[in-house]
Amino acid sequence: MSIRGVGVRTPDVLIIGAGAAGLMAAMTAARRGKKVVVLDHAPEAGRKILISGGGRCNFTNKDIKPECFLSQNKHFARSALSRYKPADFLALLAAHKIAWHEKKLGQLFCDNSAQDIVRMLLAECEASGVHLLLDVRITDVSRAEHFRVQTSAGEFSSPALVLATGGLSIPKLGATSFSYDVARRFGLPIINPEPALVPLVFGREEESWVRELAGVSLPVKASCGKIAFEEALLFTHRGLSGPALLQISSYWRSGQPVRLDLLPGQDIGQHLAALKAAKGKMKGAAALHRWLPQRLAQELARQFTSDRPVVEWSDKTIRALAEHIHRMDMHPTGTEGFAKAEVTRGGVDTRALSSKTMEAERVPGLYVIGEAVDVTGWLGGYNFHWAWASGHAVGQAL
Ligand code: FDA
Repeated sequence: MSIRGVGVRTPDVLIIGAGAAGLMAAMTAARRGKKVVVLDHAPEAGRKILISGGGRCNFTNKDIKPECFLSQNKHFARSALSRYKPADFLALLAAHKIAWHEKKLGQLFCDNSAQDIVRMLLAECEASGVHLLLDVRITDVSRAEHFRVQTSAGEFSSPALVLATGGLSIPKLGATSFSYDVARRFGLPIINPEPALVPLVFGREEESWVRELAGVSLPVKASCGKIAFEEALLFTHRGLSGPALLQISSYWRSGQPVRLDLLPGQDIGQHLAALKAAKGKMKGAAALHRWLPQRLAQELARQFTSDRPVVEWSDKTIRALAEHIHRMDMHPTGTEGFAKAEVTRGGVDTRALSSKTMEAERVPGLYVIGEAVDVTGWLGGYNFHWAWASGHAVGQAL
């Protein structure tokens, strides 16, 4: 799209960031007759969409509810979510003949490719006259009567400025602190941005065995405080990952333990007591492997029983092993950081924004949407849904 169109330098709305939220805001506002310009420093739009969901983009979830989002203000997302539902996004997909399927836990993916989603958003933007300018470096943002944005492509001026540059996750894809920096400059508070949906690392000597099991995976219940997720756990070369751990990482705070139940819904103590009563000669690792992956079974047997036959285990050993398997407190020493985090928790403090329009209460005309806001969704399509819903909310308000 050209920079020479009429009014491109002075649009009704200037959006910084051509990701999920920015493109949704652009097409929504432009459909309502607004002149919209979107600027992005990347050479292509929607890069995170393209790599998401293993290339198939988990674009929403059938079961979107406010409880599935973290924020200092847990009610903030409610309004935008109630006005843009999964069915609205599915209607958009239907209009563009994009096929999709449900994988598990209400997670909806493209049948074909995440590119379908980017193409759809760009087609909607183009059809409604949005000017999208890529490879543009923003050098300054100021405000006189209107917002003035200096860029490598010259100056733009607009009464409405939408910050949609996302969070800090995956810097190599072009993530920056732009929205936080501009928000701060205009006096908006920021909740400290931290990696979320991120693998946890275990640096303690006594938990170094975790790293020896890299590649092992099993269904678990992982909990942190009162919140728990039952999903797969994956042992990695640095610690723990997999959906259950990624979910819990968003709630984890430095110094807190993460509790694992390696056999949720079962009673390993009963299983082992029955094996012992049957007086079989089965050794510990082989016995535990009935219920747990082999390498994990070997490790637990080594720690607790030196792999002696079950018949020789004391009741106390069985109780201690069962306690360990069902209530294993692990002590992460950190996360794998923004380089590996799927999202950023924290961001522009929602207390400074209108939950209806995403406009800064004290800076009329300044809006913040998507991951840049202190709203973080669960794994499973929730983060894109927040991008669509907040982008739609601002597009309706402009
Ligand atoms: P987003 O990051 O999409 O867009 C921000 C845009 O701003 C980018 O185009 C960027 O180039 C631009 N920008 C940044 N700094 C700039 C600057 N200084 N100047 C100009 N432009 C700038 N979620 C989900 O619901 N389902 C999924 O399947 C996945 N999968 C997934 C996989 C991986 C590997 C990652 C890293 C993340 C996911 N996510 C996800 C999360 C999801 O990608 C994320 O929440 C949304 O993309 C956020 O949308 P935004 O539009 O807010 O930011």
